[in-house]
Amino acid sequence: MGAYAAAYERSIADPTRFWGLAARDIRWLVPPDRVLDDGAPPFYRWFTGGELNTCDNALDRHVEEGRGEQAALIYDSPVTGTVRTFSYRELTDLVARFAGALRAQGVDRGDRVVIYLPMIPEAVVAMLACARLGAVHSVVFGGFAAQELAVRIDHARPKAVVSASCGIEGGRIVPYKPLLDKALDLARHKVERCVIRQRPQLHADLVRPRDVEWDEAVESAEPAECVAVAATDPLYILYTSGTTGRPKGVVRDNGGHAVALRWSMENVFGVGPGDVFWAASDVGWVVGHSYIVYAPLLTGCTTVLYEGKPVGTPDAGAFWRVAAEHRVKTLFTAPTAIRAIKKEDPDGALLAGHDLSALDTLFLAGERLDPDTYRWASRMLDRPVVDHWWQTETGWPIVANPRGLEPLPVKPGSPSVPVPGYDVRVLGPDGEPLPPGEDGEIAIRLPLPPGTLPTLWQDDERFVESYLTRYPGHYLTGDGGHIDEDGYVWVMGRTDDVVNVAGHRLSTGTMEEVIAAHPAVAECAVIGVRDALKGQVPRGLVVLKSGVLAEEGELAAELVGMVRDQVGPVAALKEITVVAALPKTRSGKILRGVMRGIADGREVPVPSTIEDPEVLESLRPVLRREG
Ligand code: COA
Ligand code: AMP
Repeated sequence: MGAYAAAYERSIADPTRFWGLAARDIRWLVPPDRVLDDGAPPFYRWFTGGELNTCDNALDRHVEEGRGEQAALIYDSPVTGTVRTFSYRELTDLVARFAGALRAQGVDRGDRVVIYLPMIPEAVVAMLACARLGAVHSVVFGGFAAQELAVRIDHARPKAVVSASCGIEGGRIVPYKPLLDKALDLARHKVERCVIRQRPQLHADLVRPRDVEWDEAVESAEPAECVAVAATDPLYILYTSGTTGRPKGVVRDNGGHAVALRWSMENVFGVGPGDVFWAASDVGWVVGHSYIVYAPLLTGCTTVLYEGKPVGTPDAGAFWRVAAEHRVKTLFTAPTAIRAIKKEDPDGALLAGHDLSALDTLFLAGERLDPDTYRWASRMLDRPVVDHWWQTETGWPIVANPRGLEPLPVKPGSPSVPVPGYDVRVLGPDGEPLPPGEDGEIAIRLPLPPGTLPTLWQDDERFVESYLTRYPGHYLTGDGGHIDEDGYVWVMGRTDDVVNVAGHRLSTGTMEEVIAAHPAVAECAVIGVRDALKGQVPRGLVVLKSGVLAEEGELAAELVGMVRDQVGPVAALKEITVVAALPKTRSGKILRGVMRGIADGREVPVPSTIEDPEVLESLRPVLRREG
C-alpha cells in the first residue's frame, strides 16, 4: 500500500490516533484531555481540554527555537514599489506591540475585531495580534461595499475595527475610510474604537475620539504576551456567501486549526520549515487566512504577501518576477489568475529571464481548474501543477494530490483524491452513496477532521440546517460531482445559488435583494454563467412591474451601479436583461439551475413541476444570447 493510501486508511479508521500524533507538532500550554470529543453529535470538538496560543505557535515559538533571523514575511507590493522583509523576531515584536495597542483600546480575550485592510503587512500583524490576545478576528475583503461590511459588523459585534486610509487596485487608489465610515453609520452595533493605518498614498480624516491612528496606538503600547486559550475557543470568524443574502459566519477554532494546517503543509503541499511559500490570494478570503498567514507561519516557512494583480502590475510577468526574486518554492493561486496571465502572454514570453529554479510546484484552487488552463500552466512552467478542492468552511484541502505524502498521477479536471481525515461520499437524492462515475451531491461523513468549522457564529441551528440536515451523519459541501473507479473526485460545480467569480465566492441572493429593491422591478433572478476569464460571472434577468416603462440600457446601468454600491465591485455584475417573465415551478420556485444550464449550453432536464413551459421556451434565445 502506498504512503497516501496507508495514511488515508489510518485517518478514517482511527482519527483519534491519527490527529493525536499530528498534534505533537503544536506547542500546547496544556495538553488536550481528548483528541476527538464526539459526545454531542452532530457537533464534534477537537482537542478538548487543551490550551495553546496560535500566535505563539506561529511566531514566538520559532524565535525561541532559533528562527528569529529567518524571514517570516516578505511584503512585495508592485503598486507602491515596495519590497520589505520581516524576520520572525521583527514580526513577533510588531505583533506583540500591536496586541498591546489593541488591549489598550479595550480589546480582550473573546472580543471580536473586524479587520478591513488591503494587502499590507498590518493585515497580518492585526490578525496575529488578535490571536495573541485570544480575541476573535473577522477579516472583511476590501472589494465589498459599505453595506456588506455593515452586515458583518452587526453580526460579529466587534469591540474594534482595524482599517486603513486606502487600498490600491492596480493603478487606482480605493479610499477605504469613507466606506468604513458609511458602514459604521449603517450598522446598528456601535463600534467603540477604530484603528486606522494612514498610508502615504491617501490621508484619511479621523472621527475623534472613536478613531485612532495605528502609529499613535502603537507608540504608547506595552508589548502583550500570548494569552492561553482553549483549543476549542474561536480564533476567527470568516463570513462567506450562502444561498441567501445573509452571509454565514464560519467559525474556526484554535487547536484543530493549528494542528490541521501544520499537517497540511508537509503532507499536502510538501513544504517544511524554512521553505518559501506564496499564496497569491487576499487575506480577505480563506486562502489568505490559511495559506498566506497561518499555515506558513505555523510551519516556520517564509510567506509572501503580494499587493498586486497577476496582470497589469506592471504586466503578465509579475508572478514570475516575484517567484524568482524571493526564491518561492510553492506558489498557490486561483485558476483565474493563470487564465489572466495566459490571455496576455499566451506564449509565456514574460517567463524568460526569471530564474524559477527554486519553484517546485504550482497549486491551484478556488474554482474548477479547467483542463486547458492546467495544460497551459504545466507546459509553461514544466513542473507539477496541482489542483485541490476545498472551501471556507473546511479551511484546508478536502481533495488534493497529496504531494508531500505521495505524488499521485494527475487526471486533468479532477483535484485527485480525498485528503486524509475527509471521508468523501457522493450521494444520491435518497442519501445512498452512488456508484463510481455517477454525479450527485458531494458530502463528507461526520466527523469532519480538525480545522474545519465547528459551527456558524452564534448560530448552531443554521449550521445544522445548512450543512447537516439534508443527509444525516454527513456534511453537505454544496458542490456536485462524482468519484471515479480509481477513487478520484470530480468536482463539477455548486448545486446551490452560490457563484464563483474569479475565485471569489458570492451569493446571487445578495445581488437579487439589491435589484429587487428597485421601484421598477417586479422580480428578478441572478444566475452565474460561464466566463472564459473569470470562470463564472453573474447575469441578471429582471421582470418589470406592470405599467412601468423603462429604457432597458438605462435601467440596466442603474441596477449594475446599485449592486456595485451595495455589494461591492467584486460582484462584477455587468449584464442585466429585461424579460417578460421568469420560469418557475408550480410552487413558485424560480428555475435558476435550468436557466444557468441553458446559458452555459448544457442540456438540463426541465422539472415536470414547471408552471408554464412557454416562459422557459421564450427565454432560451435570450439565455443563449441568440438574436
Ligand atoms: N478592494 C477594492 N476593490 C477591489 C478589491 C479590493 N481588495 N479587489 C477587487 N476589487 C475590485 C476591482 O478593482 C474590480 O473593480 P472594477 O470593476 O472597477 O475594475 C472589481 O473589484 C472586480 O475585481 P476582480 O475580480 O479582481 O477583477 P479584475 O478584472 O480587476 O481582475 C483578475 C481580474 C483575474 C486579474 C483577478 O480577478 C484576479 O487576480 N483573480 C485571482 C483571484 C484570487 O486570487 N482569488 C482568491 C481565491 S484563491
Ligand atoms: P470558498 O469558500 O470561497 O473557498 O469557495 C469554495 C467553493 O469554490 C467550493 O465550494 C467550490 O464550489 C469552489 N472550488 C474551490 N476550489 C475548487 C476546485 N479545485 N475545483 C472545483 N471547485 C472549487
